[in-house]
Amino acid sequence: MHKNEKNALEIVFVTGNEDKFREVREILATMGYEVIQNTNGYPELQEEDLEPIAAYGARWAAEKLGMTVIVDDSGLFINALNGFPGPYSAFVEKNLGNKRVLKIMEDENDRSAVFKSVIGYCEPGAEPLTFTGTVEGKIAFEERGAGGFGYDPIFDYDGMTFGELGDVEKNKVSHRRRALDKFLEWLDNEN
Ligand code: IMP
Repeated sequence: MHKNEKNALEIVFVTGNEDKFREVREILATMGYEVIQNTNGYPELQEEDLEPIAAYGARWAAEKLGMTVIVDDSGLFINALNGFPGPYSAFVEKNLGNKRVLKIMEDENDRSAVFKSVIGYCEPGAEPLTFTGTVEGKIAFEERGAGGFGYDPIFDYDGMTFGELGDVEKNKVSHRRRALDKFLEWLDNEN
């Protein structure tokens, strides 16, 4: 990794998702890191767990680009639906959307759900590492709030949805924040 002219360490984040990039940039900026987006992409494995997907993507991108990278693979796991949409979260969001997910959840009493984010890290020629963050919440009965992205308006965290919380508050408690905290703890010990 490089240091920029302000002596901040630059981290290359491979993602085409502008919302993930914005959150990771904002979270790491508060800790003195600069995040550079790379939109080259990588193949996404179909797996039940997010860790192998993130590890494979990070290794693939690090080899392809010849530089140290991070990736983020994340998803929403709804307990009453046995973890659905989980690793299929992006597909379900695009093809069903929040309203249809709420419809599937209509008669469910167990509203508990977990957001999970896995940060994959890889240096060229090295084994990838993964850092997992989770946050527990409940699936709301209707969409609330215009902040965030994806499932944020239906993910209720302590009475407010992530959509209502907005970036600053969401970034203090989110799955992505928790995964990045673990990554930075490891990174600080390395440097
Ligand atoms: P992937 O990591 O590219 O496979 O996609 C993850 C998908 O999970 C996103 O497209 C969103 O639908 C959803 N997701 C992941 N993190 C969040 C979040 O912080 N808020 C809302 N939706 C999320």
